[in-house]
Amino acid sequence: QIAAASGHTVVLVDQSDEILKKSTKGIEESLKRVTKKKFADKPEAGAEFIEKTLKNLTTSTDAVAVVHSTDLVIEAIVENQEVKNELFKRLDKFAPEHTIFASNTSSLQITQLANSTTRQDRFGGLHFFNPVPMMKLVEVIKTPMTSQKTFESLMDFSKAVGKSPVSCKDTPGFIVNRLLVPYMMEAVRLFERGDASKEDIDVAMKLGAGYPMGPFELLDYVGLDTSKYIIDGWHTLEPNNPLFAPSPLLDKLVEEKKLGKKTGEGFYKYK
Ligand code: 3HC
Repeated sequence: QIAAASGHTVVLVDQSDEILKKSTKGIEESLKRVTKKKFADKPEAGAEFIEKTLKNLTTSTDAVAVVHSTDLVIEAIVENQEVKNELFKRLDKFAPEHTIFASNTSSLQITQLANSTTRQDRFGGLHFFNPVPMMKLVEVIKTPMTSQKTFESLMDFSKAVGKSPVSCKDTPGFIVNRLLVPYMMEAVRLFERGDASKEDIDVAMKLGAGYPMGPFELLDYVGLDTSKYIIDGWHTLEPNNPLFAPSPLLDKLVEEKKLGKKTGEGFYKYK
């Protein structure tokens, strides 16, 4: 959405037409929200902006067919090392020499993903934040193999889509998630110990620390499955770090498919 809105030609790739239809609808709705604000007094210019943006955006279920005319691939599939490696390995065979590969992973090592390709110097991390149209940050991750030219291209691209990039080494969680995820897990542990209700913890962090959402609201918003993938991955890397310990309550909710807002229930229920 943000790449198309800033004049880039975008092909959105997913596994089925049904998912792509849902994604396109989500983008249209989000564009309407953005336009309402951006073009408050100029509805015609707003309609033109939406039309132009959507013209820049096409969809496909065939990543291989699309990749040979791409300058930049941004991968945002399931947080599973093997599945990601397999995709990058396949795309690497068909992508032009100059094409840069980037992952939006929030928990896996960029270096390991890059190693599934032959373009380690043209590989980096581009980590966006939910909801992407509203959150101004992008973390740009440079591995020891990422070339300076690739890093600069990723920084330039981030600015071109209207974001403020920061850079970080290829360390677990980069900057934001390394601080945010242990904080959210500590909130779950506080609740599991019965020290406070989840409602009170959320109110406390909003009114006492000025956060726009409380930790339970944010966990539901990010997705409990995504949060579990992150913490489980780090726990495997550092089993003795108490900040990375799994939570029985989070595990139970994920097992019950209560994944947060997207499934209608997580820590809270949604209509
Ligand atoms: N598209 C376009 N506009 C959107 C939007 C979307 N998807 N979501 C919200 N907005 C707009 C609304 O239209 C609204 O615009 P307005 O000011 O003109 O009315 C504005 O954002 C504020 O929305 P709301 O009034 O509905 O609600 P809030 O004031 O609570 O703001 C929020 C919503 C921006 C999501 C805010 O609650 C927030 O900043 N929450 C914290 C988000 C956060 O921490 N994100 C990071 C998560 S971690 C992550 O993503 C990393 C990953 O790896 C796990």
